[in-house]
Amino acid sequence: MCGIVGYVGPQAAVDTVVNGLRRLEYRGYDSAGVAVVAGGRLHLAKKAGKLGNLEKELAEHPLPTSGLGIGHTRWATHGGPNDVNAHPHLSAHERVALVHNGIVENYVRLRGELEAAGLTMTSETDSEVVAHLVAQQVEAGARLDEALRTVCGRLEGTFTLVAVDSQDPTAVVAARRNSPLVVGVGQGENFLASDVAAFIEHTREAIELGQDQVVRITADAIEVTTFDGSPAEVRPYHVDWDLSAAEKGGYDWFMRKEIHEQPRAVADTLLGRYDANARLTLDEIRISEDELRSIDKIVVIACGTAFYAGMVAKYAIEHWTRIPCEVELASEFRYRDPIVGPTTLVVAISQSGETADTLMAIRHAQQQRARVLAVCNTNGSTIPREADAVIYTHAGPEIGVASTKGFLTQLVACYLLGLYLAQVRGTKFGDEIAAVMRELAAMPDAIAAVLDGIQPVLDLAAEFVDAPSVLFLGRHVGYPVALEGALKLKELAYIHAEGFAAGELKHGPIALLENDLPVFAVVPPKGRDMLHAKVLSNLQEVRARGARTVVLAEEDDHDVTPYADVLIRLPRVSTLLQPLVATVPLQVFACELASRKGHDVDQPRNLAKSVTVE
Ligand code: G6P
Repeated sequence: MCGIVGYVGPQAAVDTVVNGLRRLEYRGYDSAGVAVVAGGRLHLAKKAGKLGNLEKELAEHPLPTSGLGIGHTRWATHGGPNDVNAHPHLSAHERVALVHNGIVENYVRLRGELEAAGLTMTSETDSEVVAHLVAQQVEAGARLDEALRTVCGRLEGTFTLVAVDSQDPTAVVAARRNSPLVVGVGQGENFLASDVAAFIEHTREAIELGQDQVVRITADAIEVTTFDGSPAEVRPYHVDWDLSAAEKGGYDWFMRKEIHEQPRAVADTLLGRYDANARLTLDEIRISEDELRSIDKIVVIACGTAFYAGMVAKYAIEHWTRIPCEVELASEFRYRDPIVGPTTLVVAISQSGETADTLMAIRHAQQQRARVLAVCNTNGSTIPREADAVIYTHAGPEIGVASTKGFLTQLVACYLLGLYLAQVRGTKFGDEIAAVMRELAAMPDAIAAVLDGIQPVLDLAAEFVDAPSVLFLGRHVGYPVALEGALKLKELAYIHAEGFAAGELKHGPIALLENDLPVFAVVPPKGRDMLHAKVLSNLQEVRARGARTVVLAEEDDHDVTPYADVLIRLPRVSTLLQPLVATVPLQVFACELASRKGHDVDQPRNLAKSVTVE
């Protein structure tokens, strides 16, 4: 996965492209580069490391003024993150410059062919091969879009490609297969990007490019064709969020801002989903009620944080609908020959809507004739486009690489789905559904209350800044919360952190306990007394071995006090909904601890927000 930008118009291309790249850096930040066409030549700058390195290079050695350019911010796949492997890549006689997101799976064969024909590769990338292939076509007289169509026919794998021809200062051309690409439609200028965030400050009108399509943009025209050259239908849309939503708004990190946006994000995700009688209306579900009634199995597939949202979904969906529900890592799903069919509902959860593992899993499910419903935060992205139905989370753009408001709104969407299925199938009475909906409606205030009282968590992060390891325990829906708490800490603070089902502690992990080891425990609300009592016993086991317990428990739960070295209070909510409040302190803890360690919280090392490779 990488971020890609293309521009043609009256503005200074270098600045416009670099500004766009800045908003795409969440997609990868191993290196960055830009190329412009001026005076019948290509001019190029590229640097390993974050965009700042490229900006420094451009300040020292400016590129000529041009109204046409392309740029790239990289997350390395083929070849290490150095200056040479950075994009754009030039063809042999510097006729073509090209940037690429994705993986060309047959590049070894193509590279062999080019080398046999006498070409020398300068980088280790699969992308450079494509630059040479495109240039061969252009040098033989093809227009750049024609050349790209021909070459795409030979490529296997996933790719978004954006290219310019040194002999055509009017057009930028791009192609897409299984990797994202959107066109920004301006006035006398046009844009290409992996994500609308790159051009939102210039235009909010966009066109989503379909699978296997090529687009040629000039300042005044946009031509979209399929790989076989026929004109393609274009799907314009209006982007309903603005630049300020993509800026930090006074916070030190996007992640911190996004944590604090969670009350709003949860409220927005609930908006318009139920009427005054709490009857759910999920308009985006394009699967008939009859079909929903015939479902006999649900499989939730997702990766990373979204997978943990899926684990919570399982508890809620099975409890409310009595439909068996499995949760599976998307990257494992299709390789184990899963049992799915026409009466299976596959729920794919993905903030970005572009995660390759999840995309490939839903395609596999569709081949088995399963119905696919996406839970997604990104309008127009690939997963909801390919799914039969979608519930959009309305979290707004999530820029911090570690997901926060994405996660909470995924939980809300899953609760809505569970309740909707219960309503359609009659497994819950209307008043029972209404009671949960009332509780959900109160959640934004509950989350805001957690954030208002967050200071002790910030202090705790300062206290534990040098802890080499942190454990997280939970049972029932508290278990995925524990896993998410540990993942956040791994992602951001780069320390050993593990989440366990509290009951499993005694079956192995208890050997890890030692004096002063911080152990967080999510205590379920007291309504489920058996569950509550069991977690207290687990806490006792932890305390007996000298570890330091940080206990997250609802207010008025005085039974936990003897087991807690540190108590973090949560608002009173019902068991199934507790992850909406219990996750928040763990997000803040990881953000603060990483910040105090001096790490880049928004762009943790080795990660990328949208992982478009398998
Ligand atoms: C990447 C990110 C994670 C995210 C996962 C799934 O690994 O670093 O934070 O949870 O992808 O992303 P998705 O966009 O599919 O929710």
